[in-house]
Amino acid sequence: MEKLSVRDRKHLWHPLTQHKTHGDMLGIVKAQGAVLTDEDGREYIDAIASWYTAMYGHCHPWITKAVSEQMKKLDQVVFSGFTHQPAIELSESLMSVLPYNQQKLFFSDNGSTATEIGIKMALQYFHNLGEKRNVMLASEEGFHGDTFGAMSVSGLSAYNGPFEE
Ligand SMILES: Cc1ncc(COP(=O)(O)O)c(C=O)c1O
Repeated sequence: MEKLSVRDRKHLWHPLTQHKTHGDMLGIVKAQGAVLTDEDGREYIDAIASWYTAMYGHCHPWITKAVSEQMKKLDQVVFSGFTHQPAIELSESLMSVLPYNQQKLFFSDNGSTATEIGIKMALQYFHNLGEKRNVMLASEEGFHGDTFGAMSVSGLSAYNGPFEE
């Protein structure tokens, strides 16, 4: 069997990557705590927690157990018209640490769509009031993600330059 780094090249594009100049991707086969292991058995310290998505460490036993138990009980239910205990419990525990003027939560699945939702909420708020508002203030060098709404309130960079107009 060919190496992962070789098979990868055939069909995959990676985010934030110029494939003409980028070398082979590291084929990772295992992760534990802060350590990633590649297909040749070499170990790496994941010092950015895989873009801060594994901030408690990879394959944390408490998290993998909780996810596995939840998946066996209720994997997914559409959140429009339905609700469930984990969402309610998470909302209650977030409320206990959020400032007193925060009373409502709307869950998203990543940073870019969270930004989209924030923009939509701001626009819809004024739409519902019957006011026309369509100007967003944004920091010049800010980065808010790769979807169009998020790019539109981010600073210009190599990543979003082609979409400026
Ligand atoms: C400040 C900020 N907002 C939004 C995002 C986009 O998040 P995601 O990659 O989950 O879409 C990032 C990602 O780096 C970020 O740093």
